[in-house]
Amino acid sequence: MKNRNKKSKKTGNISRRGFLKGAGITAAGTVIAGSGMLSLQAQTAEKDKTLGPGTINIKMNVNGRIREMNIEPRTTLADALRNELHLTGTKVGCNRGACSACTVWIDGMPVLSCSTLAIEVSDREVITIEGLANNDRIHPLQKTFIEHDATQCGFCTPGMIMTGAHLLKNNHLPTEEDVKVALSGNFCRCGTHPKVITAILDAASKM
Ligand code: FES
Ligand code: FES
Repeated sequence: MKNRNKKSKKTGNISRRGFLKGAGITAAGTVIAGSGMLSLQAQTAEKDKTLGPGTINIKMNVNGRIREMNIEPRTTLADALRNELHLTGTKVGCNRGACSACTVWIDGMPVLSCSTLAIEVSDREVITIEGLANNDRIHPLQKTFIEHDATQCGFCTPGMIMTGAHLLKNNHLPTEEDVKVALSGNFCRCGTHPKVITAILDAASKM
């Protein structure tokens, strides 16, 4: 009886969570690379470090400025920009990666900020619609959007401009087809697509 107690006490030193975690890692390590098991275990342990559920402090480079905020790890980039930094130019339409209204640039690439966690971009450069202007000179595409009245309710407009400006950065003389392909993920419920395409082509001819 005494011995049995001793045994169960020893087993009790391994938590159920620790046991399951160890078993899972071992299984994965065996499949991936038997000899690299130890380093895989170390990496997995590092990756599995739990963040939250409370707030954590992060820094982010937004429009050329380092911004600091305390957010829950589940906070999307769109929510961090809008609610923490009050950069409300970025719009949230569908909030599920289907409309591109929330498009921002991360390291120069258009990305859906509603489907990106803020903690994922803490070491990257984020540019929002507010950062597209050159000091007080608006981007040529913002100008042609105004000139061609390429906006109605305006909800999709920041995403359209961030996508269009990225196209013009990489393709100085896009065809109408190029523009349509670039905008294929951007939806406008007000039906401004024809004017948006005209505005982008006009900006290309002026830049
Ligand atoms: S709000 Fe992000 S894709 Fe629609
Ligand atoms: S202008 Fe209203 S959704 Fe595009």
